[in-house]
Amino acid sequence: MIDVRGVVKGYLEGGRRRVVLDGVDFTVADGEQVAVMGPSGSGKSTLLNLLGAMEPPDAGTVRVADEDLTSLNERGRTLFRRRRIGFVFQELNLVPTLTVLENLLLPLELNGALDTAGRRRAGALLERVGLGDRGGGFPENLSGGERQRVAVVRALVHRPALLLADEPTGSLDAAAASDVLSLFAALRGEHGLTAVLATHSSAVAARADRIVEVGGGRLREGAAA
Ligand SMILES: Nc1ncnc2c1ncn2[C@@H]1O[C@H](COP(=O)(O)OP(=O)(O)OP(=O)(O)O)[C@@H](O)[C@H]1O
Ligand SMILES: [Mg+2]
Repeated sequence: MIDVRGVVKGYLEGGRRRVVLDGVDFTVADGEQVAVMGPSGSGKSTLLNLLGAMEPPDAGTVRVADEDLTSLNERGRTLFRRRRIGFVFQELNLVPTLTVLENLLLPLELNGALDTAGRRRAGALLERVGLGDRGGGFPENLSGGERQRVAVVRALVHRPALLLADEPTGSLDAAAASDVLSLFAALRGEHGLTAVLATHSSAVAARADRIVEVGGGRLREGAAA
């Protein structure tokens, strides 16, 4: 599903270039669910952004779902993201002027795939994270953890091949976090969902098939959490 080779990514800061990822290789098999750990600022979100075609690397290749992301232009990356990727942003990025349900239907609408089955799926997923009765409310009236669960559902509603989730359980209590992780596991069974989760939580990492650690610009297979 994922094949990253020799990826370098840095940012300009005050005229100087700071390298965040410095020659990273990373592979993930279809259906595998991998946790990415590492200190704050080490490059976990940067890696997820590259995998989700949010931005291109400075060097190296990123292949996801049989697509060479480094060969896509901006339009190509946008379409790839919409169709194949579910992204749970660290800052959630729910649209405040849309209701919860409207937020969930947005990915389907952007794909021209807003049909009865899609609506039903959105409702069923919302139910599965315990928010079945909140679809008509607005994000600002939800708690942080409730908003996080909505963001998780929004990332899944169009049945992405790859879920990229940046701290998807950061504001959840242990029970709600466990429910969300069980949902990911169930969706792997239902449609082969592959997932890469950035997390600081060893409880989350322990439920993944594999842990990798980012640090010092490199990525290494991590020990069990
Ligand atoms: N768009 C950007 N412009 C400039 N610097 C950036 C940008 N995005 C990330 N960085 C820098 O890259 C480094 C890695 O950031 P990143 O967000 O990937 O870390 P992280 O591992 O996700 O951290 P956290 O655990 O705090 O979320 C940081 O030093 C950050 O300041
Ligand atoms: Mg981050």
